[in-house]
Order: sequence, then structure tokens, then C-alpha cells
Amino acid sequence: MLVHNFSIISLILAILVILILEGDKRMCGIVGYIGFKNELDVKDVLLSGLSKLEYRGYDSAGICIYNEGIHIFKDAGRVEHLKTLVDDSITANLGIGHTRWATHGKPSKRNSHPHQSLSTRFTVVHNGVIENEIELREKYLSNYPFVSETDTEVIVALIEKFVMEGTEPTIAIRQVMGLIKGSYAIGIIDSETPDKFYAAKNKSPLLIGLGNNFNMIGSDAMSIIKYTNKFIEIYDQEFIVLAADKVSIYSILGNQIERNYYVETLDAADTEKGVYPHYMLKEIDEQPFALRRLISEYFTDTDYNIDADITDTLRNTDRIYIIAAGTSMHAGLVGKQFFEQIANIPTEVHISSEFIYNTPLINDNPLFIFLSQSGETADSRAVLVKIKELGFKSLTITNAKGSTLSREADYTLLIHAGVEIAVASTKAYTSQIAVMAILATKEAEIDATVIKKDLSLIANVIEGITDNKTIFKELADQYLTKRSCFYIGRHIDYFVAVEAALKLKEISYIQTEGFAAGELKHGTIALIEEGTPVIAIISQENINLNTRSNIKEVKSRGASTIIISLKSLSSATDQIVIDDVSPILSPIVTIVPTQLLAYYAALSRGLDIDKPRNLAKSVTVE
Ligand code: AGP
Repeated sequence: MLVHNFSIISLILAILVILILEGDKRMCGIVGYIGFKNELDVKDVLLSGLSKLEYRGYDSAGICIYNEGIHIFKDAGRVEHLKTLVDDSITANLGIGHTRWATHGKPSKRNSHPHQSLSTRFTVVHNGVIENEIELREKYLSNYPFVSETDTEVIVALIEKFVMEGTEPTIAIRQVMGLIKGSYAIGIIDSETPDKFYAAKNKSPLLIGLGNNFNMIGSDAMSIIKYTNKFIEIYDQEFIVLAADKVSIYSILGNQIERNYYVETLDAADTEKGVYPHYMLKEIDEQPFALRRLISEYFTDTDYNIDADITDTLRNTDRIYIIAAGTSMHAGLVGKQFFEQIANIPTEVHISSEFIYNTPLINDNPLFIFLSQSGETADSRAVLVKIKELGFKSLTITNAKGSTLSREADYTLLIHAGVEIAVASTKAYTSQIAVMAILATKEAEIDATVIKKDLSLIANVIEGITDNKTIFKELADQYLTKRSCFYIGRHIDYFVAVEAALKLKEISYIQTEGFAAGELKHGTIALIEEGTPVIAIISQENINLNTRSNIKEVKSRGASTIIISLKSLSSATDQIVIDDVSPILSPIVTIVPTQLLAYYAALSRGLDIDKPRNLAKSVTVE
């Protein structure tokens, strides 16, 4: 097969440039509100919005509200901590807020947003990174007494400088937008014009929410949906003026832009825990419903319902390259099996952040499939930007409509899993796998009713698992008490094992490895000691006995073992037996017990299950 004869070096260099230019894009959330007096209390709106944005970063948080002057409350720590600092006696109808995931310097009050200009006239919140911060400081602000370590202060300092030199504030803001190289979504309050506030965007997500007698900005729909479902998309290098009853959009040159709003279908209730103690448990339970919603979206009564452009592109593809990170990459490992074994299309899976170093020889008619729950993972986006420049076709499979990876790819398939808030991804993983299964069976011209039936059965089997959670709590309490753990499997079970390991370690902090069962004896078995938990996944007939012999190997060395198996392959001593499903689709069900084991292991440790330490839901940094 001819490989594409373009220079691999140029691809590597180009993506390296993008990753460097993208810098370590700060991953934060911003929210802003302006309303007529006695509409909504801006403090509640901002704090509620920030709570929904904490998945973007929860090292520090802050709000600025205006009531006959600026009042700022900010500190390191979660939004819950911020709430204790806010003076409830101050009512206001204008404000901006921010949650931060620290990239430069430790989280601190000094570095948390909002930041103010020297005179305190201008206040800003910022999500993104200013690549030319040093250049701007040296050229315009050499003697400026910066207070924080952040690049964000440069924004308000420059605005104030230009205004002090006689430039009208909105022009000054647009001038600063023109000077900044990098990414930003910003909210700005000018304390001399409290009947409005400003916003601007470049490469970082930002939405406008249109209310009755109020208007908002937010990093995503979840931060706004509680108050309105009318949204306007904002594109790069646009500047917005928001008043309580009017929103005006301008290009960076000052040309006014008219844009219609759309109604967001997201249900605000979806963003609440309801009766659940944690979002993660809610989202594990939602998997059957997510699959059923997926079936309704991707099938008619008797046929597939997939955009013909996508299926035609797939048909003309001679190699698929799946690009993803974390759990999505693990879903890609399973998807590869579908595309190769069902659709007969050679497929490779690449870790987004590794792609530039391990860039493959690319075929003549490749299709790059980007898997991303958030659609905002910077590592994946950096690859997409270059892939597009090289003229290759791209498909994003995501849970986030209108996300960067969705907007910038040629095609998008939504997984319709509903909002996934817990940092540990669960329903997005199973839904991503289901979408790839549907694509592959469509390509293989398998009767739609077959895959529909298989997925419907899988939804029911998952329900059977999640309806009986006691066993998982008992097993977690009994077995997952050590500092380490292994998940093992062969073939497609190995791909589930690596995802199961990530789930356990990222929320319980137990050092967990997902290992090829047959590989353990080649060294790593040395780590097995008395009581080390080893969990085996068995879903394929042809590897059943082999994996069971691996379990015997570790057991004879003191391991405490759990076996997760499909019923037709099970033995009497298996602790977790799952009703049979189509073997190649088994990862969609065999992962569920491991999700629950992870949940209960973290629960027994009293850890923050939905917001594990050091993590964030959407990793928009390289
Ligand atoms: C999964 O539990 C983790 N939160 C993480 O590995 C995540 O899957 C990864 O960051 C990719 O995110 P994405 O799917 O939004 O691109």
C-alpha cells in the first residue's frame, strides 16, 4: 500500500509548533451577568455558574460584583469555600466570576481571578493563555507594578494604559485583543460604566446567554442553562458588549455582527445530582438510558440514521487513525477492533499527546477519528489543526455539541450521553464505543436490526448490573484495601483492563495497572505479593482458559483475585458474572463493574469522587 509521500518531518515540526504556540493553555471557567435591578441576585448567578464550571478547574475561584463600586471575593480553594467569603449583604446586578486550574505557580489568592488594573477601574476574568505576555510587559508595561504571577493582569493593565492615554474603553479593549497572541475568553467590567460589561474570545470557549431583562456569558452552556436556554455562539476575535436588555457583537475591527440565538436542548436538571450522592454514580446509572437515546438517534425503525457524507467517507477510507486521550483513547482501542474485524478497515490508535513523536506513515485516503467527551482536549485539538492543514478528513465523536473539536472537524457524530460532570468518564466511554460499533456495522452493511438488538440487550444487561450495587461495595471493601491493584485481560478484555485501571486510580488513588494477562509473567508478576488485588476480565471464549491460568499464577503468589466473566464462560467461583452479550461488544458491559468497584473504593476512602485531586474534566492544557 502506498504511503502518503509528504514529509513526516514537516508534520512533526508543524504539530510541535502548534503545541508550543498553544502553550499550556490555562484551563479555567468564566461566567458573567448583567440584569436590571431586582431581577436576579448576581452573587447567586455567579456562584451557581462557577459550581457548574468547576470541572474545568477547581484550584481557586473568585467573583467581582458591582454595587456603587467594585467588590471582589476570591481565594485558593473550591467554589464552596468562595461562598463563605462572599458578603451576602451586598446585592448587585452586575458581576463576573472565575474558576482556575493552576498551571503557573501554586493556587493562591494573589493569583486567583478576578484581577484589577492599578486604578481598580477595570476588572477582568480570563480563560486562556497569553503567549506573548513577556513581550507585552516589556514593550508596554515595563514599570507596571504587577500584583500576581498571572498573564491575565497584562490585559487590564494594557486596557487601562490605553484608556489613560485617551482611547475610548471599547476601542482600548479591541486594541488589546489585537495585541494578544494566544487564547482568551474574557469578561471585563469598567466601573465607570456599570450599565454594561464586556467580553471577548479567541480559541477559548465562550457562550452568550440571553435572558429576559438580563444577559450572561459562560464558558459552556451548563454555567448558564439554569437561567436561560437561549444562547448565541461567539467566534474567535469577537468582542461583545452586554447590557441588561441588549447584546452587541463586534469583530475585532469594530464592525457590528448580527447573529441569531439558538435554543439549547440541555436540561438544567441534567446538571444536578438529584438523589445521587455523586455525579459519577448517577452517570454510571445513566448508561442504559444513554445507549437507548443513542439507538433512537442513530436508527430509524429498520435502518441506520447516519449522515451519508460520513458513511461515504468511511467507505473510501483506506486507513483509520483514532486520536484521543485518557478514557477516550481506551475507547479507541475497542473501536479499532470494530473497524478492523467488522468493517475490515486497517485502524491505528494514537495517544493525542504522543502523535507528534510517533507520527505514523499516513495512507493516501486516511480518516482521522477524534474521540473526545468534552471536545476541548488540547492535545487532541493540536493534532486536528495540523491534520486539517494537511487536507486529511476528520471526524469527531464527542459528547459536546459545538465544541472546538466538533466545530473544527469535517464531520461530527454526537454520542448523546447527556452532560457528564464527574471527572471520571463513564457513560461517555460506553457511548463512544457504541457509536463506533454502529459506524462499523453500517460500513459492513450488517442489518441495522442486528446491532440495534445487540445494543438494546446491552442496555438491559447494564441495568441488571447497576440494579445490584451491593456486591461491588462488598468486593471493594474486601479487596481494594491495598496500595496497588492490577486489572488483567487478553485481547479485547485487555483494552477494558486499561480503562478499568484508570477509573480505579484516578478516583481512589490506588496505584493500578491494566495489564495484558499473558504479559504479567514477563516481569511485572514480581510485584505480586500477599493480598495484592488482581481483577481479571473474561468475555471471550478463546482466551477463557488462558486468563484463568494467569489468575492461578498470581493466586499462587499470594494475590487476592476477582473474576469478572460473561455467564457462558463463568465458573462457580467467579465473583461477578454478567449476562451474555455479543462478545465483540462486551467492553460496553464488562467495564461497568469496574466503574462501580472504583466508585466504592473511593467512597470507602472518603475521597472527592467527582473532583479527584490534581484532575479536571476537560484538559485544555498540553
Ligand atoms: C477519564 O476518566 C479522564 N477524566 C480523562 O482521562 C479523560 O478521558 C481525558 O482527559 C480525555 O478527555 P476527553 O474525552 O474530553 O477528550
